[in-house]
Amino acid sequence: MLTDCRECKTRFRADKLEYPKEYDSAEAAIATHAIACPNCGSKDLTEPRPFLTMLRTRLGAAADEEDYLSLAYLRPETAQGIFINFLLVQQAMRRKLPFGIAQIGKAFRNEVTPGNFVLRTREFEQMELEYFVKPGEDEGVLDEWVERYLDWYTGYGLSRDNLRLVEVEERERAHYSRRTVDVYYRFFPERDTEEKQWEELMGIAHRSDYDLKSHSKNPADDEGKRLNPDSTEDLSYFDDPTKQRFYPYVIEPSAGVNRSVLAFLMDAYTERTNDKGEKRVILKLHPELAPIKVAVLPLARNKPEIVALAQRIKRDLQPSMRAVYDDTGGIGKLYARQDEIGTPACVTVDHQSLEDEAVTVRDRDTWEQERVPVAELLEHLKKRLGVRC
Ligand code: GAP
Repeated sequence: MLTDCRECKTRFRADKLEYPKEYDSAEAAIATHAIACPNCGSKDLTEPRPFLTMLRTRLGAAADEEDYLSLAYLRPETAQGIFINFLLVQQAMRRKLPFGIAQIGKAFRNEVTPGNFVLRTREFEQMELEYFVKPGEDEGVLDEWVERYLDWYTGYGLSRDNLRLVEVEERERAHYSRRTVDVYYRFFPERDTEEKQWEELMGIAHRSDYDLKSHSKNPADDEGKRLNPDSTEDLSYFDDPTKQRFYPYVIEPSAGVNRSVLAFLMDAYTERTNDKGEKRVILKLHPELAPIKVAVLPLARNKPEIVALAQRIKRDLQPSMRAVYDDTGGIGKLYARQDEIGTPACVTVDHQSLEDEAVTVRDRDTWEQERVPVAELLEHLKKRLGVRC
């Protein structure tokens, strides 16, 4: 339910507003003007109205026959495609429980309050994993996934101090969830109170057998009510060793890609002052996340032999890693540019390279330089960057 402030026109979810203890609900408090707008303080809030949280559209070819177009909704989570395809994937891949299906893709929501940079947009990217387990064997699985995701985020550069776990209370959980643990990231370190610094990065939910049953033709909810009378499929799983048929439970890690990328960028962002007292930005991205792995730079762009050697080196590296060539400035500027976009290594070709077939490899984080024979360069970089090719 949504309410609008008549004074400042800000819109709020009614269930998120704090209300005086003597009222049963925010809605009751709004009716007697007992809630002040969190934005401007006015007590003139509109009567709460239902809000459509999914994005609705109409599908069909004939644009002038509006009535014949069928109603369709854009997916608000990537998860449902996985549930629908659960049996197909399980049988085609000959999987036994437990196993998971992961997907990355767009999701769309008619957000009440979009904004906050990329944190809440109407179109965003999710990466979700539905991990199917036998009921009774689900104990501890959610916590294992929490640990694996913490390891994954810290392994790619997030500081553990900037991550926090929140056990979501029952009244805050989605309708399908038996338990949810959210991972929060410190997106707003500049805010004055600790509480305001955090925003959700991802959630890990126990969805029980809710979704597979909901998509099946013979769904038995706990009261025996048919959940989906339109379904023609049954998504139950047959366990060969025990000859049992059942609906698996699902543990679902669901992460926002946009929020994750922002978190990786924030933790990677560092500043350093060079010998001349100038401030430089270094984006200390994990090499696997760095969009460019190596930049090959000629020390003198007006010397054709140096340019030719640098371009040859770049071409030789390209099949193995993303390499670029740049000669559009002095070497200091070229290094600074690569530091700022997170390129872990720069290779400089100089006059001496023409004689000894060796180049200088410069490290983004330490600015240390090392002379490496061109013949050993690829292996050297692979080892240094740990990049999977
Ligand atoms: N299938 C479960 C699910 O969708 P969710 O908590 O609603 O759970 C998962 O979404 C993640 O998707 C969130 O933790 C967040 O990172 C991201 N997310 C959700 N809504 C978003 C939005 N409007 N803009 C950007 N990211 C969003």
